[in-house]
Amino acid sequence: MPPCPPEIHPERKHHHVETTGFTLTDLTKVYSTKHRDVVALDNVSLSVPRGSFTVLLGPSGCGKSTILRMLADLEAPSSGGATIHGESPEAIRKAHRLGLALQDPSLLPWRSVRDNIRLPGQVMRRPVPKERVDELIRMVGLEGFQDARPAQLSGGMRQRVAIARAIVTEPEILLMDEPFGALDEITRQRMNEELQRLWAASNATALLVTHSISEAAFLADRVIVMSPRPGRIVGDVTIDFPRPRGRDLLTTPEFHRVCDQLSTLLHAGHDDGADLGGDGGLPATADAGAAE
Ligand SMILES: Nc1ncnc2c1ncn2[C@@H]1O[C@H](COP(=O)(O)OP(=O)(O)O)[C@@H](O)[C@H]1O
Ligand SMILES: [Mg+2]
Repeated sequence: MPPCPPEIHPERKHHHVETTGFTLTDLTKVYSTKHRDVVALDNVSLSVPRGSFTVLLGPSGCGKSTILRMLADLEAPSSGGATIHGESPEAIRKAHRLGLALQDPSLLPWRSVRDNIRLPGQVMRRPVPKERVDELIRMVGLEGFQDARPAQLSGGMRQRVAIARAIVTEPEILLMDEPFGALDEITRQRMNEELQRLWAASNATALLVTHSISEAAFLADRVIVMSPRPGRIVGDVTIDFPRPRGRDLLTTPEFHRVCDQLSTLLHAGHDDGADLGGDGGLPATADAGAAE
């Protein structure tokens, strides 16, 4: 099925994004377990424009999911705070203004594709018109599978349903935690292109968590590079490849240059006192340094 033509939102064309999307202010999260305290996030601050696409990039254990969960109001910070479009994550969640997609698509197995996508509207008691659901099914390339059950779909198709379900209510903020992590490279790239198209046709502020350098460079307006133990920001890279971005971008020297830059930041974050072999405890040295 040929992909739909990209519909770039007029505001995006001119990059006239002025208002704030989400902010993190001195965000710290300490998990207390029986044996020790784990500093999952150490004084993380960040502010991104409304409507932008931000990627959190970092190795496992650097606190990416913790940030996402706090923005989704699934978890409270130990100190510091977060806002989304000037409001608390709690207010945004309660008003059903956020869309969430996780690595596990967690579809309801007894429901069809169409009925899984309709679910958030039903939960909100604001049923989504059938035309909108069908349009989304078409946009994520699942035409012909409206009535299939999740068990009849491939992993990529299930993740498409999960993305469609996350955006069906036109959320103001779209939070995605490694949604394509379990997919093969080819499928993943296709999903990235589809996601870019869906986001561009919306007004949503997007935050995607990944440990894939090329996924980050392909999708982001801005890549926030993180390092673990304790989780902090070690790099902040603006990616200004024109949109819509196609897969031809992946083979350009400019793309490789950006990937190299991200890779260097990732590794610098590791050499800087972080130990991959550790298990998430406090750093051995007192000199934790300052995140910049
Ligand atoms: N509920 C929890 N209890 C204790 N430690 C946790 C909990 N959740 C996460 N952690 C720890 O916090 C750190 C960051 O976790 P997480 O945000 O899941 O990282 P990432 O998503 O980057 O892999 C890790 O060291 C992890 O082990
Ligand atoms: Mg995670």
